[in-house]
Amino acid sequence: MRLIGFFVAALAALPEVVECAAGRVHHAKDGSVIGTTAGRPTILPKPLTTGKQFIKSERRKRTCFVDALGNGQDDGPQILAAAQECNGNGTVALLSPLYTIATPLDLTFLNGIDFDIQGTLKFTPDTDFWQENSFKYTFQNSSAFWQFGGYDVHIFGSGKGTIDGSGQVWYDLYAKDPLILRPILIAYNGLHQATVSGLKLRYSPQWYQVVIDSSDVIFDDIDIFGGSVSSNPAKNTDGWDTYRSDNIVIQNSHIDNGDDCVSFKPNSTSVVVQGLFCNGSHGISVGSLGQYYKVYDLVEDVYVYNITMINASDMARIKVWPGVQSALSVDLQGGGGIGLVNNITYDTMQISNVEYGIELTQCYGQKNLTLCNEYPSTLTIQNVMFKNMFGTASKKYDPTVGTLVCSSPSVCHNIYAQNINVVPPSGKAPKYTCTNIDRTLLNIPCV
Ligand SMILES: *[C@@H]1O[C@H](CO)[C@@H](O)[C@H](O)[C@H]1NC(C)=O
Ligand SMILES: *[C@@H]1O[C@H](CO)[C@@H](O)[C@H](O)[C@H]1NC(C)=O
Ligand SMILES: *[C@@H]1O[C@H](CO)[C@@H](O)[C@H](O)[C@H]1NC(C)=O
Ligand SMILES: *[C@@H]1O[C@H](CO)[C@@H](O)[C@H](O)[C@H]1NC(C)=O
Ligand SMILES: *[C@@H]1O[C@H](CO)[C@@H](O)[C@H](O)[C@H]1NC(C)=O
Ligand SMILES: *[C@@H]1O[C@H](CO)[C@@H](O)[C@H](O)[C@H]1NC(C)=O
Ligand SMILES: *[C@@H]1O[C@H](CO)[C@@H](O)[C@H](O)[C@H]1NC(C)=O
Ligand SMILES: *[C@@H]1O[C@H](CO)[C@@H](O)[C@H](O)[C@H]1NC(C)=O
Repeated sequence: MRLIGFFVAALAALPEVVECAAGRVHHAKDGSVIGTTAGRPTILPKPLTTGKQFIKSERRKRTCFVDALGNGQDDGPQILAAAQECNGNGTVALLSPLYTIATPLDLTFLNGIDFDIQGTLKFTPDTDFWQENSFKYTFQNSSAFWQFGGYDVHIFGSGKGTIDGSGQVWYDLYAKDPLILRPILIAYNGLHQATVSGLKLRYSPQWYQVVIDSSDVIFDDIDIFGGSVSSNPAKNTDGWDTYRSDNIVIQNSHIDNGDDCVSFKPNSTSVVVQGLFCNGSHGISVGSLGQYYKVYDLVEDVYVYNITMINASDMARIKVWPGVQSALSVDLQGGGGIGLVNNITYDTMQISNVEYGIELTQCYGQKNLTLCNEYPSTLTIQNVMFKNMFGTASKKYDPTVGTLVCSSPSVCHNIYAQNINVVPPSGKAPKYTCTNIDRTLLNIPCV
């Protein structure tokens, strides 16, 4: 009798499992309608591709509904239980309006599963708890609330699903102590053959997304918005960072943030970024690279296409630390890394109110240029094309609209600029700072 009672309780705790179909109406226990399941959208790289394959996945056969507990109770454990239950040809459906997430979610065991997210997932603002319990990564002392990993995974928000990091408490705390560990909103850690689409990402404490040790992932229709309402800015809120990942497409998205719109960190290969609207960012950046002494960093085969960039520090940016160690800020130091940046194209960019249309530097983090030239970067930049850029810079460096600073000509090869038409707001003739670089390949007014 006691045993049966135990089993009934265990079953009741499991999510409801029913046959899967899009457009299925899901009811609460009282009979009211919670929502209707969405179909998995077909996501393909468009218009450009990396040239590599993305695998087609099967239709899902089961649905695990997770109904929010309400009243600020933690929905984390029941989302985890649903992911375990529906792993292997199922869909986890999150149709309630608001889920509270008070515990970290380790979803790195996935294999053949979809997430139909239509409600808001809101992380609690408990900074002590999260610093203690977030997932930790050695790269740049980063940490995350939530991690997804595994094979054949589709996460779709249908333009409604929202993930909210409750960032304000973190922006305010970081202003007091720059060594706190601000979680990344979502880490994709060891994720392969996946799509992430139709999500709204809000108020991340730090980077919005990091893609680590992953391959064959497409991001489509991601809407990022956040910012601080206090005098403490929302710092380091990159849209995406890719790290040790291959065959990644980021497309058709709107990003309103305060740091890199997209950043290619060490060992990012075969990446296409296209159709983005970025507002308030630090541009689309290769790097920073060469931060870790004697570590080899590679960024190769990247194509950035059709980007609108407004109110930003940069559009096309390549940042490499010099051959000497230096401190950019109390929580960011580095230099002396080795490696290669190869085959990078920036093509078709409309800019407005952007400090530099192009910023290439091999002296990142080192303001003393004499020192930078004394210890040139040990990371080579080669086969880079900047082409088809139009618009207006900001008045910050007017009439300078771009800067290309290599630390030595021997570590910068085949860097081209063609059809670049960026004007400063004053209407003066635009200028570019060009140092230690072959000017004959740059069709821009170098000074
Ligand atoms: C998922 O479906 C595939 C193909 O229909 C089948 O081979 C596999 O065993 C299923 N996996 C699970 C966990 O049910
Ligand atoms: C460029 O991207 C925008 C979305 O930001 C899209 O509407 C437009 O169709 C794209 N154009 C081309 C030529 O791909
Ligand atoms: C750009 O960002 C600023 C600051 O968040 C905001 O006021 C403005 O409306 C945004 N513009 C667009 C076009 O998104
Ligand atoms: C990048 O890949 C190279 C091999 O190509 C490896 O030696 C290096 O350690 C990797 N770097 C990082 C940061 O993982
Ligand atoms: C350069 O990178 C692009 C984008 O990934 C790729 O399509 C192209 O084949 C690469 N070129 C070479 C010469 O490898
Ligand atoms: C990581 O954090 C420690 C202190 O918490 C700091 O000493 C170190 O410089 C940081 N490393 C990087 C790469 O930011
Ligand atoms: C953002 O850019 C738009 C278009 O250039 C401009 O109208 C607006 O004033 C800018 N906003 C801020 C906050 O700089
Ligand atoms: C910059 O570095 C050079 C070479 O090491 C040194 O002589 C000079 O004093 C440094 N300048 C400043 C402002 O620190």
